[in-house]
Amino acid sequence: MIGEKIVVANWKMNPPTFSEAEALFSAVKKAAKKTENINIIVAPPAIWLSRFKTGGAGNLELAGQDMAYEEKGALTGEISPLMLKDAGAKYAIIGHSERRSNFGETDEIINKKLILALKSRLIPILCVGESLEEKRVDKTPEIIKLQLTKALESVRQKQVQVDNLLIAYEPVWAIGSGITPSYDDVLSVNLLIRKTINSIYGRKIAEKIPLLYGGSVNGKNAGGFMEKSRADGLLVGGASVSAEEFVNIIESISVYDF
Ligand code: PGA
Repeated sequence: MIGEKIVVANWKMNPPTFSEAEALFSAVKKAAKKTENINIIVAPPAIWLSRFKTGGAGNLELAGQDMAYEEKGALTGEISPLMLKDAGAKYAIIGHSERRSNFGETDEIINKKLILALKSRLIPILCVGESLEEKRVDKTPEIIKLQLTKALESVRQKQVQVDNLLIAYEPVWAIGSGITPSYDDVLSVNLLIRKTINSIYGRKIAEKIPLLYGGSVNGKNAGGFMEKSRADGLLVGGASVSAEEFVNIIESISVYDF
């Protein structure tokens, strides 16, 4: 990674046509060239991955929004990590809450995917986050710890290095809702994530592993999450499919020198 700040654009199932996707990608590429201190990772619908070329912007990379838990075989509709890599992806989002809730992904499946991603040399962007019900009964720390330890079960220290795993804290209730946690709340979850990683992999990895915040990020709150919550980056959904809003986010954090 060239810069230290990271912004991931998770386009989800948007936009509907390739020509719109192409226009959005070229706006992002232009912004990437102007802000070299920020690493921008775009996760478009997989069908378009191979059509996007990051060349010319050394701080721009591609990601899959998800991946299969097997390399190949009879898994109709799934996309292998080898295919993602072949199509140009360097990263894969794993354990997004929409996969967990809409497609029944369990911690065990997420663990299997994470292990396979590392084996396939795809960098996992592991998402964790509590639901509204869990937050209401003060279970956030317990859930974060549980999701993290289960996702990383049997993942050996030598497989995990500071530059081959990203962790995103995404409270489920903040995704797409326009409601965000306070900067302090995100800060305490970030500290908890570092503490949990420390107990599994030791201090060196715990201190350096990039932590992202995701959930209703926009141009106005982006800088606050980076500065006050000590996030290393952001995972942006809705606002990443508007070129204007996404460029706002990039520009708003490029002025900070963390
Ligand atoms: P949002 O989505 O920015 O639309 O809240 C974030 C995400 O789902 O990663």
